[in-house]
Amino acid sequence: MSLNSSRVHELPADEAAVYRRLDPERLPQHVAIIMDGNGRWAGRRSLKRFLGHQQGAEAVQYVVETASRIGLPWLTLYAFSLENNLRRPRTEVNFLMRLLRTYLSNNVQRMNDNNVRIRYIGRTNDLPEEVCERMRWAADATRHNTGTTLTLALNYGARSELVDAFRALTLEVQSKGLRLDQIDEAEIHRHLYTAHMPDPDLLIRTSGEMRVSNFLLWQIAYTEIFVTDRLWPDFRGIHMLEAIEDYQRRERRYGGLNDGTESDDVESLPASQMFAGR
Ligand code: FPP
Repeated sequence: MSLNSSRVHELPADEAAVYRRLDPERLPQHVAIIMDGNGRWAGRRSLKRFLGHQQGAEAVQYVVETASRIGLPWLTLYAFSLENNLRRPRTEVNFLMRLLRTYLSNNVQRMNDNNVRIRYIGRTNDLPEEVCERMRWAADATRHNTGTTLTLALNYGARSELVDAFRALTLEVQSKGLRLDQIDEAEIHRHLYTAHMPDPDLLIRTSGEMRVSNFLLWQIAYTEIFVTDRLWPDFRGIHMLEAIEDYQRRERRYGGLNDGTESDDVESLPASQMFAGR
């Protein structure tokens, strides 16, 4: 199946209704999601936190399926941060690791059915070997798929990604004679974990917090951000489509002006009028 063969007809009726409101020519190429709120979801139901994570893993597959049906090329999910690894109780970290293994074991078939390829970013080598083994297995089993690339950020931190990139660049300076004037933005991009993908067009964060939590800091320089109060375990494909609808209402300027806007004639402005209200 090629990337462009549309599977939009597979969307359930409620998602199809939102999709019809979208401009298919201006769909984002890359959506990244900070999945937050599993603990609160469980807490509101007087359940243990791990049940929130379990429901969170269910939500992942719904969203991946919708992404694949609309032909989204890149979907990147913040599944486990370096900070989660360092700061959460060991029992919770161990549970998340087991959940990840189970998720991969149970969903590779579904990924293949949906033409989804799975990859990872982060300091994944520091994860337990049995988790790494499952991750390699899932990546290998889905590597020929040409639809959505699902990237899980695991043991990921954006600052440590930059540290790793600068270390690799320094090695190239030392061993391959890379000159300092050859180091530019493209060269740094080439050393990020995300070198092979475009920057996210849209970053969604669930559960209402207004922060980016050390996620893809370099890559989101011009990304549109959508924050919803909905907790991750309640998030579904339809909510991603609604976020895309909101994204399509925005105007992306990348630091430039609106299309067709005339530039003010500031050259002829007297110095006395340069500062308003003084
Ligand atoms: C935030 O909830 C979420 C995480 C710590 C990790 C996300 C994990 C999942 C969605 C489940 C596993 C994923 C896969 C791919 C199998 P939180 O615990 O920080 O929630 P809280 O802020 O309400 O406490």
